[in-house]
Amino acid sequence: MDLAPPPPLFTPAYFANPYPTLAALRARNDLVTHPHLDGPLLFRHQQIRTLQRCPHLSKERLTETRIDGLPQPVLEVVEEAQGRRKFSMLNVDPPTHSRLRGQATAAFTLARMEALRPRIQAVTDALLDALADRAEFDLIRDFAFPLPAIVIMELLGVPSADREQLKTWTADQIELLGGLRTAADPLELANRATASGKALRAYAHTLIEAKRLQPQDDFISALVAVQQREDGRLNEEEVVATSTLLLAAGHETTTNLIANGMLALLNTPSELARLRADPSLARAAVEEILRYDPPVQMLARVTTADFDLGGSKIPAGTRLTLMLGAANRDPDHFPDPDRFDITREVNDNFSFGFDRHLCLGAHLARIEGEIAFTTLLRRFPHIELTAAPLAWLPNVAFRALKALPIRVRPA
Ligand code: HEM
Repeated sequence: MDLAPPPPLFTPAYFANPYPTLAALRARNDLVTHPHLDGPLLFRHQQIRTLQRCPHLSKERLTETRIDGLPQPVLEVVEEAQGRRKFSMLNVDPPTHSRLRGQATAAFTLARMEALRPRIQAVTDALLDALADRAEFDLIRDFAFPLPAIVIMELLGVPSADREQLKTWTADQIELLGGLRTAADPLELANRATASGKALRAYAHTLIEAKRLQPQDDFISALVAVQQREDGRLNEEEVVATSTLLLAAGHETTTNLIANGMLALLNTPSELARLRADPSLARAAVEEILRYDPPVQMLARVTTADFDLGGSKIPAGTRLTLMLGAANRDPDHFPDPDRFDITREVNDNFSFGFDRHLCLGAHLARIEGEIAFTTLLRRFPHIELTAAPLAWLPNVAFRALKALPIRVRPA
């Protein structure tokens, strides 16, 4: 048992580079608790492997974790958002989870996503064509955001003209999910995100109505058809929740896969050179990027029964926080875990989650990542960071750069 106070989480230094703090916490031999969060925090690969087989985990019973010092009006806003959780597959347990997720699995199979490769390549090429005469650009604003956003919006059947507006709304949701702890003005954030959430849902209702009147060959039309055909299988709020979840999840995280990955490559010139020389390494490189700097850093569950986790008794009703970025660098599982190595032999990371909520869009994200990196490296024989300092969002759940300015020379 380590009695020294744990190093602080969620400081500016933590957001700039969380891995030394995570390593220090992982090195403690007890089940780590932390004054900043309710319940034990899990930092080890083995612990999450054990949970993979545990039937006593719930997302539905999660309530917002304690955040010290939040004023009552903010808590009320957060509580109101809690009430909507039941409509989204992300937040429910079986049988509701199986019913909601079941409506989407067929649309995101590996085969369906592989068939999208030519379209993803065409979108990638068009975005890079538009940057052809620029010596410097923000990789996030000009490429890593629009690429996955265009792809998921086309799949869902969302008009491309609305991309920037939708981005503002989904970014507010992401900020609310992981930014309340660090917000300068939590009430402003809570109110802004509530207004954005309402606007996003109103947008989805209008779109759904349009698809009902005039169905198209897209995912939202297919959901609407299920709702019409099988009254009771899916209600309107669930169609809205699935559509908005896919819209947000379908681009926010992939943007960070591309940006975090390009940063890791630029910071590790030997690996950048290897990938440039052999594009067939792209698949493995994407996996290493996911392990090394995962876009989703933290997941939570509540236990529904007492059980044993590596010799520690966990009572029912305990909140568990899974620190994915720490488990992905556990030296007991990954040799030399802080080394960025695109041909790592063992790479079973948890960046897409770990249980029945395993990311539905993992195939799509991996393919988008592969195409993004191979095309960027092919089109730009020279890429470097500019002198601009990098800043990370102060978000506890998502690891995201605010911008990634780069300088390029085309072929
Ligand atoms: C690199 C990019 C991505 C990362 C790192 C990522 C990560 C994750 C993680 C960690 C979860 C599990 C959440 C939990 O257990 O609480 C998840 C779930 C989910 N992801 Fe992704 N995701 C990515 C891209 C995508 C894309 C492109 C889509 C859409 C096509 C998507 C759709 C979803 C959905 C719908 C869920 C909820 C699944 C469920 O609850 O059953 N994700 N994702």
